[in-house]
Amino acid sequence: MLTGMSITLSIVTGASRGLGRAVAEQLLARGEHVIAISRRAPEGLSSPRLQHWSADLADAAAVSTRLHDHLRAQGEQAFAALALINNAGVISALAPLGEVDGEDLARAVRVGLEAPMRLTAAFLAATRGWALPRKVLLVSSGLGRRAMAGSASYCAAKAGLDHLARAVALEEAAQPQGARIVSLAPGVIDTDMQRQLRSAEAQAFPERERFAALHRGGQLDSPAAAAARLIGYLDRADFGVNAVADVRDA
Ligand SMILES: NC(=O)c1ccc[n+]([C@@H]2O[C@H](COP(=O)([O-])OP(=O)(O)OC[C@H]3O[C@@H](n4cnc5c(N)ncnc54)[C@H](OP(=O)(O)O)[C@@H]3O)[C@@H](O)[C@H]2O)c1
Repeated sequence: MLTGMSITLSIVTGASRGLGRAVAEQLLARGEHVIAISRRAPEGLSSPRLQHWSADLADAAAVSTRLHDHLRAQGEQAFAALALINNAGVISALAPLGEVDGEDLARAVRVGLEAPMRLTAAFLAATRGWALPRKVLLVSSGLGRRAMAGSASYCAAKAGLDHLARAVALEEAAQPQGARIVSLAPGVIDTDMQRQLRSAEAQAFPERERFAALHRGGQLDSPAAAAARLIGYLDRADFGVNAVADVRDA
């Protein structure tokens, strides 16, 4: 057995900035290995334990195959624990559905729902039956549970992640040593995505002022604080008991 050499690996999508970058930084700081998947490299992060796979998750087929093949090539003995953190997400133009370009809508669903589904499928297929802890985290949103006008594609992708987690949790529960999966709302975080929400056109996006007020009121979590909560949730002994959760849950 090569257990002395085995590593804890997390695959983190959207790790170039915002929440994903902070998650990658904190996992590296505690000695874990990270594969970061995004178009750009994680800003200002470098470590011998960090690999960046450049990929546009609007077309996740090739990177999903790469993930599958990488895990199979390394083999079970290489790892002590594995986590796939599907964090990348995008919002389309903030406006009623009929006013948004079709390609823009499709991109939000491809990056926000199709890519996590394909990567999760590849991760589960590559590691089927492995005895080590295997966790999948889907970064969802309160907006997957509460609808918001002006962001229908985003709401749909996030609601899709929640139900994806519920269905996969049933499948994995039926497997010996199945993986654990949670679709997690991460709180409200001071990132580029929040800047987009605040700078939308008020007429097309009725909730713009609510996001501006959250910012003015200092109610946004820093990416570092949100990442610490997300990792705290990932570490919970009961991770996966509830397939749909919120970091703000007790
Ligand atoms: N911020 C909030 O208040 C909030 C609230 C609830 C949920 N969330 C969720 O939390 C997650 C992180 O959000 P954030 O606020 O940190 O967002 P962000 O600052 O906008 O960062 C988005 C990340 O996703 C990556 N990404 C976007 N499009 C991509 C593509 N086509 N291919 C590959 N990577 C892509 C970006 O990397 P590249 O541009 O380098 O590709 C970037 O690293 C998202 O799923 C978001 O929906 C955020």
